[in-house]
Amino acid sequence: MPPSIHIDPARHVAPVDPRIYSGFTEHMGRCIYGGLYDPGNEHGLADANGYRTDVLQALKDLNIPIVRYPGGNFVSSYRWQDGVGPKELRPRRPELAWLTEESNQFGTDEFIQWCRLLGAEPYICLNMGTGTLEDALAWLEYCNSSANTHYANMRRKNGHPEPYGVKYWALGNEVWGPWQVGQMTAEDYSKTAYQWAKALRLLDPSIKLISCGETGFADWDRVTLKTLAPVVDFHSIHLYTVSEGNHDVNVMGPAAAEKGIEITKSLIELAKIEGKLTKDITVCFDEWNVWDPVRAPGEKGAEEHYDLSDALGEYKAVASWLNVFVRKADIVKIACIAQSVNVISPIITSPTGLFKQTTYYPLQLFATLMQGTALSLHVAADAPEDDTYTGPTVPPFVAHLSVHTPPAARLTKWIDASAVLSPSKTEIRLAVVNRHQTRAFDVPIAFGPDARVAPRLVVHEVWSPQLGDRNGFEGEKVKTVERKVDAWDGVYQCKEHSFQVLVFTLL
Ligand code: AHR
Repeated sequence: MPPSIHIDPARHVAPVDPRIYSGFTEHMGRCIYGGLYDPGNEHGLADANGYRTDVLQALKDLNIPIVRYPGGNFVSSYRWQDGVGPKELRPRRPELAWLTEESNQFGTDEFIQWCRLLGAEPYICLNMGTGTLEDALAWLEYCNSSANTHYANMRRKNGHPEPYGVKYWALGNEVWGPWQVGQMTAEDYSKTAYQWAKALRLLDPSIKLISCGETGFADWDRVTLKTLAPVVDFHSIHLYTVSEGNHDVNVMGPAAAEKGIEITKSLIELAKIEGKLTKDITVCFDEWNVWDPVRAPGEKGAEEHYDLSDALGEYKAVASWLNVFVRKADIVKIACIAQSVNVISPIITSPTGLFKQTTYYPLQLFATLMQGTALSLHVAADAPEDDTYTGPTVPPFVAHLSVHTPPAARLTKWIDASAVLSPSKTEIRLAVVNRHQTRAFDVPIAFGPDARVAPRLVVHEVWSPQLGDRNGFEGEKVKTVERKVDAWDGVYQCKEHSFQVLVFTLL
């Protein structure tokens, strides 16, 4: 029996939160400088404020609702005060995350203005490494206060009379990691973050606070949630999947994230029971992507050229990541791809232009089409030896990154899918990844008992015949192709190593 997909449009999982298609910009490599900010660009690609207009357009086409900033590891030794005020007075500082120098020519005001141009909400991560609670309160006051007080007046003096109203604030970044400036134990972090949360809320009760989690399947997550559940709105988790030369491990890697999300959901429930809490706490997966730090080291700017290793299946891996977030729509309310420009990114710039990596296209299809209500869906694969992959799903990098043991591998199907009922409730949209390198599958697709679907569909496909096909400044071989199928017989011919969104019309 070939694998088959079963969808019941009457069985709703949860609304898909558009914030799962969010981004992340860090002071790292060429993300900010030479990426989104390039004043004086000789080819006329930057506007009067130095923002790259081609970058803005490419990101606007991804419908990005929120952008996280300024790190990442960078934030843990960042003095936000250095990045505001007259540019000629801003100090250059040693930068300890990526061992570079920070010019501070781009800071909070430039970031907020860029977000406004993009049409995205800013999300600021606080420095819990070298930063103090006093610095954090000052940053919040600078951004959000309308009072006649020092930092609110500093913002006004810098030319910004109205408060920015930054809603999302994270309590530190990867504080558990040995590479982090100011690493702490889970207990120490929880105690400190609890006090920070209390004080930040006294200054601005309207903000949403995000606790620093690990992978979702670490004891750090259990300990921190137990203490911080009463004072936070989201728990953040991070994970990168990596191939280390193995296509199958790369495309199956997001299964580890799905497991992490399930475990985090239970840890949140447990913390709420123990704390007698009725409030909502959801997952903010604020760093995810395909990243091999050996192939693209952070200290060298982490420029993953996915086109160079397309044989490893990055665009399928990114699509599988996004399938996970849609399937887990009940608990994942924010997810930020790490990152948005040049660094581990779907777009790569040069002084003369940009190109879209293979991973850009699944991201764009999800952000534009996979909105609405997530539907219950089942992929049946009855012949395990044939239709399912039984190797490891836990990327080796997870073990390297995490200070705890990742969950065991589990049986994973070659066909990976998620489905939504469109916002107008007139269409079912089905995202399907065939993670097999060489096998095509004829996949029967069945709809729930009361659903009637027109015998035609629109297919948005990302595929290229040669695994080695690549995108680059010289051209894009891997991109979305749209076609119509007029007489559909209930079976979809799913090409090898392909990704597609199928749009069905409900009758
Ligand atoms: O996104 C690159 C880095 O990966 C971030 O700075 C850090 O938070 C993570 O380890």
